[in-house]
Amino acid sequence: MKLAIIYGDVSTTHQLIIEEAEEIFDSVLAAPVDGLKMIHSEEGSKVLYKDTDLTEFDAAYVRTNDEDALFSEHLVEVLNKAGVVTQAEDESFSYSNNKFYSMKILAENNVNVPDSFYTLSPETAVDAAEELGYPIIMKTIEGAGGQGVMRASSENELKPVMDTMKSFEQDICLQEYQEHGGTDTRVIVIGNEIYAYSRSSNGDEWRSNLAAGGERKEADITPEMREAALTAVRASGFDIAGVDVIETDNGVYVLELNSAFGLYKAINETVGDNVILRLVERMHERAMEANQS
Ligand SMILES: Nc1ncnc2c1ncn2[C@@H]1O[C@H](COP(=O)(O)OP(=O)(O)O)[C@@H](O)[C@H]1O
Ligand SMILES: [Mg+2]
Repeated sequence: MKLAIIYGDVSTTHQLIIEEAEEIFDSVLAAPVDGLKMIHSEEGSKVLYKDTDLTEFDAAYVRTNDEDALFSEHLVEVLNKAGVVTQAEDESFSYSNNKFYSMKILAENNVNVPDSFYTLSPETAVDAAEELGYPIIMKTIEGAGGQGVMRASSENELKPVMDTMKSFEQDICLQEYQEHGGTDTRVIVIGNEIYAYSRSSNGDEWRSNLAAGGERKEADITPEMREAALTAVRASGFDIAGVDVIETDNGVYVLELNSAFGLYKAINETVGDNVILRLVERMHERAMEANQS
């Protein structure tokens, strides 16, 4: 069995995935997304990395960044059509690459998400905020690690940010603020299995991302959180994804769907299992099944 790992940035994460994958797959190739070339011709579609055609692989784990959104969406579709097992369905990356679109898909599948608006003009944003109420969350459509997530407590605070976003040509998703006491839970779904840890922010910081200074702890995951995360991942067609969940006085909410979620050794220690190994085992299992059918 041959696995390709397609990555956005060179990182220790994809190195860890390669190490575990080499234990399980006969061969593993890691390819940077910007080294790939997709070709469509009368012979069909190919995905070339140097002289290697990735459509001839058994499985591919795609771990790209938001800036490569359109390319990765197309890539996953081509790989799936060629019978390469990926961790996603054709549409999945178009959901996870856009925070508003993912909220829409989840809401349509009865997953509780914060009320969200997608607006293009600062004036419409002000109207929308009136409806959602203050404080209000503003998110750039793309973004990770808490970057691009902001909060405004009044129209006077919202307006300048909206004007700035417009001048930077950023689309904005406005969201009702759901009080969560600075803690959220990252739920990692791998097939039918779930691994979770919680992240707590320090002091007055309300974004609980580790990249924004949050601290990782063991999670107390309720059946409702488990259910919400699984439904979110299934509804978006992912077999492997990370979901951000909060518990509030109004119930459980899913805040975000992540295709390239954080993976590092410290997570294994917190959740008490080798998540990276489980991930590559799952890719292998599905590749074996696809091979038999
Ligand atoms: N609607 C919301 N209400 C309250 N807090 C939120 C809301 N949306 C995001 N947050 C906080 O901001 C953090 C980052 O938001 P998220 O949408 O997950 O973006 P990122 O891609 O940067 O992780 C969340 O983990 C949570 O702590
Ligand atoms: Mg997040």
